[in-house]
Amino acid sequence: MRRPIFRGTQASALALLHRAEVLHLATTTPGGAPVLRALDGAVLPDGVYFHGARTGEKALCMGRAAVVSAVELVAHLPSWMSHPTRACPASTLYRSVQVHGTLREVEAPAEKARALEALMQRWQPEGRYDPVDPADPQYQGELSGTLVFAVPFESVDCKEKLLQNKEPEQILAILAGLWRRGQPGDVEAIEAVRAANPSVPAPPFLAADGVRLHAALPEEEIPAVEALLRDEYWWGPETAPLIAGAHRAATAWVGAREPGGALVASARAMSDGKTAWIYDVVVASSHRGRGLGKRLMTLLLDHPAVRHAPAVMLATRDAQGLYARFGFADKAQEPKRWPTMTDMVLRRGRG
Ligand SMILES: CC(C)(COP(=O)(O)OP(=O)(O)OC[C@H]1O[C@@H](n2cnc3c(N)ncnc32)[C@H](O)[C@@H]1OP(=O)(O)O)[C@@H](O)C(=O)NCCC(=O)NCCS
Repeated sequence: MRRPIFRGTQASALALLHRAEVLHLATTTPGGAPVLRALDGAVLPDGVYFHGARTGEKALCMGRAAVVSAVELVAHLPSWMSHPTRACPASTLYRSVQVHGTLREVEAPAEKARALEALMQRWQPEGRYDPVDPADPQYQGELSGTLVFAVPFESVDCKEKLLQNKEPEQILAILAGLWRRGQPGDVEAIEAVRAANPSVPAPPFLAADGVRLHAALPEEEIPAVEALLRDEYWWGPETAPLIAGAHRAATAWVGAREPGGALVASARAMSDGKTAWIYDVVVASSHRGRGLGKRLMTLLLDHPAVRHAPAVMLATRDAQGLYARFGFADKAQEPKRWPTMTDMVLRRGRG
């Protein structure tokens, strides 16, 4: 039994099973030998489904107790984030899920088709095939010949080890440590720890009046970013469909949410470590003129992906005053660093 503070919800368990690139199946043969296999499975509301060969080892294990697991590393925490000298506080943050159920063969053609269709949707979301339908003659051979397995959700156990057992000041020290370390995944780990510990106040680097600042962009927030930017002058009808991809590809993103949850500010940067480019700084018109643009820029310039870049660039039609206060200057007024170089561009369509 999990310690209750670490227990994740059923919804987070299912989400983790869906996100996992690879699932693992543990079971035993009738002779009691352990079996462990990596699975390319599909997760349906009642269980995990996968296919295999009638001659394979898994086929021997029908009717036996099985466990399907998935795990997601959130961050390795070095000891120095918690204690200056002792090794013991070193730890790992992670999410894991274990499904217990009895391995069974899926025999009904409609259920088989549903499982195989779910596998197709997982690995070929672009479609371009006829749906797997038991009434479709082109699939009848495969449907009868393919062995489909299910591990039904008899019990689902989810663990999220995200510092829920720590005191607020210990959590704040670790959040500050992750922000300063800034390895890939550390800003996402900060958001995960904050979500799991909602009573802990914002760490100083994310503190703001009246809004909640964020430094990692979850996929489900992308439509809100699109809504903020779609009508800005530098995006047009042809390029607006590129907003989502541009934000997924960003090396840094910062944003602000109202206490109620609506996204009210967003900015992103692309950095190769030598030069960082800042793009798409926007504050919702309802929230302008209250210092949020400044707070967002302070956070973005301190973001681990941006803070060490020797040059930070941006181009803007207005609000130059906002950027000047951070030290940005009109590049055209600078002597050219490489007088013989020409800035060049290839334009495609209206991009
Ligand atoms: C520009 C923008 C991000 C500023 O956000 P904001 O939250 O209103 O800014 P702040 O309240 O933090 O103000 C910051 C400072 O910049 C100045 N400033 C803000 N917008 C400005 C503008 N359009 N022109 C000139 N100065 C501006 C403010 O006067 C303020 O200066 P102060 O501290 O000396 O009073 C916001 O107005 C916006 O989203 N505009 C539309 C999108 C845009 O033009 N983005 C910039 C191009 S990349």
